[in-house]
Amino acid sequence: MDHIPVLLHEALNGLCVKHDRVYLDCTFGRGGHSQAILAALGKFGCLIGLDRDPSAVSVGMKLALKDPRFRMIHTAFSKLEVALDDLGIERVAGILLDLGVSSPQLDQAHRGFSFQEDGPLDMRMDPTTGESAAEWVARADTAEIAQVLWVFGEERFSRRIARAIVEARATRPIQTTAQLGKIISDAQPIKDQKKHPATRAFQAIRLHINGELMEVERGLAAAMNRLEIGGRLAVISFHSLEDRLVKRTLRDASRLPLGDPRMPLPSNLAKPKLRLVGKAIKAGPEELQTNPRARSAVLRVAERTEAA
Ligand SMILES: C[S@@+](CC[C@H](N)C(=O)[O-])C[C@H]1O[C@@H](n2cnc3c(N)ncnc32)[C@H](O)[C@@H]1O
Repeated sequence: MDHIPVLLHEALNGLCVKHDRVYLDCTFGRGGHSQAILAALGKFGCLIGLDRDPSAVSVGMKLALKDPRFRMIHTAFSKLEVALDDLGIERVAGILLDLGVSSPQLDQAHRGFSFQEDGPLDMRMDPTTGESAAEWVARADTAEIAQVLWVFGEERFSRRIARAIVEARATRPIQTTAQLGKIISDAQPIKDQKKHPATRAFQAIRLHINGELMEVERGLAAAMNRLEIGGRLAVISFHSLEDRLVKRTLRDASRLPLGDPRMPLPSNLAKPKLRLVGKAIKAGPEELQTNPRARSAVLRVAERTEAA
């Protein structure tokens, strides 16, 4: 398998798959989690896979030909409600989001995500739409670049790096990952010994190009709307910005909404939407030995409560 699914058993446990219900895997990737969900489903169960990456979708289409219980849809998960409406499905029993990028996306140089391998500077999960990293780096001004590096990468040399990018592109367009990696690396006066100097900046540009945090925010809201009562939501995140957003969203939805005591909320709204299930789960030593990518993974699970 070219992508080893992370926290597989833990995510499956969290979803509590019931034999004959409908499930949604919002981040199909190479289908590791989907295959495990299908194995737990019965003959009348159904799984819908979503992914915004056409190469993931073509893997999912092949699976759909082999297994009639599976459907694959090319879409961003922020639009999961549209996908469910198109299929005539109102509610599902479980939703999985395994966020971030897949190993093939990172490892294939032509996708332009990696500073380790030289490739065209692209970074779009869906290369059929939106602005590539090369186009953004050619167009954005110093302030915008610095802000992206700071907000999405917590990069302390954000301004220096932004200035270096703008200076470099005046001489030669920045079109490859190696070119950008070198500009970022050269601009840093102090290098982190444990990380490649371009790690934070590449993460920041990737998050920006793919609107990843906005996707998570909208995806979680949509997921809560379409879970049936007692349905489970399992979310795996890979870096602190993402996990903070997931944690806050699930926590807020599991609390009573704050209202004005003089104007009580209608009884259906005066209940939390979710119940948190257990604590955040991380990969154990065995998984870390076989899959170093699991190092930063955090799984959070919640259950839809009775509120409308
Ligand atoms: C970590 S991988 C998932 C791996 C998958 N669970 C497996 O076992 O093979 C993340 C996948 O989610 C997709 N993805 C990320 N953000 C997305 C979004 N907003 N909408 C749809 N797919 C997204 C990526 O294209 C990638 O294929």
